[in-house]
Amino acid sequence: MTVISFALGAHLVAAIGGADMPVVVSMLNSYSGWTASAAGFMLGNDLLIITGALVGSSGAILSIIMCRAMNRSIVNVIFGGFGTGGGSARSASPAAVTGDVQETDVDEVVERLTNATSVIVVPGYGMAVARAQHKVQEMTELLRGQGIDIRFGIHPVAGRLPGHMNVLLAEANVPYDIVLEMDELNDDFPSTDVVLVIGANDIVNPSAMTDESSPIYGMPVLEVWKSKFVVMMKRSRGTGYAGVDNPLFVEPCTRMLFGDAGDSMDGIVGALRERAGA
Ligand code: TAP
Repeated sequence: MTVISFALGAHLVAAIGGADMPVVVSMLNSYSGWTASAAGFMLGNDLLIITGALVGSSGAILSIIMCRAMNRSIVNVIFGGFGTGGGSARSASPAAVTGDVQETDVDEVVERLTNATSVIVVPGYGMAVARAQHKVQEMTELLRGQGIDIRFGIHPVAGRLPGHMNVLLAEANVPYDIVLEMDELNDDFPSTDVVLVIGANDIVNPSAMTDESSPIYGMPVLEVWKSKFVVMMKRSRGTGYAGVDNPLFVEPCTRMLFGDAGDSMDGIVGALRERAGA
């Protein structure tokens, strides 16, 4: 049984591509619950049956939510992708992104922020890497103090863990009522003056909606390009987790604020404090 279990476990996981790994981790959690539940039946232990079923079903529900956010079917994640390397069924190459990016600096960003009525912050993996959440909270407080409507748009798979961004923002004491799910504010971008994309990439990639050959085609994304002004804080023109070029960089409304998100946020908070005379 031990040998068969090892072989089955290795086979199940080997068949799954890198981008689907978060789903796999949550599926393995789910399997452990169902195993405990089955052991409960064998041992006649009601508590084990119930707790196992709870772990099993919550893991399965989380896996389905993550699959939906990445536009993948759960059956395809578990059984597809063997030997394809990336675990993705698509093999066509996505359209290359051409065009020049427009750069900006801290002064222009602060000017735009202070003149805005509504601001949406879209955090991603880079905010976690730069540990910028406390600076983001300080900026939020300063802008709210000036009567500016600032909210956060959270993609279900932003970062590298389920709820990654929510945890970081909660740790930094960002008020819960301004932290919204993607579906709650995706329609509000056209009426938004400034969007700050802090270390996010795949979750704001328009090619997920427009380029059928893109590996992330069909994945729901935050439609930030519909807003009036987008600031992308990242260190380079590099790609994100999915390794796909992002046409958002060359959109007319986009300005790139290159550099570590922590340093950029330091600059923005410092300039806002100076203006506020604090
Ligand atoms: P990504 O698409 O991975 O983009 C993160 C961006 O952050 C990178 O392009 C990187 O650009 C930038 N960055 C890194 N360090 C930075 C720093 N110190 N300062 C400023 N920018 C920095 O992240 P995302 O938009 O959050 O999307 C998440 C991706 O991960 C999705 O593709 C999702 O499917 C996948 N995924 C999610 C999960 C879960 S459950 N959340 C688990 C595994 C995988 P530069 O290098 O140019 O700075």
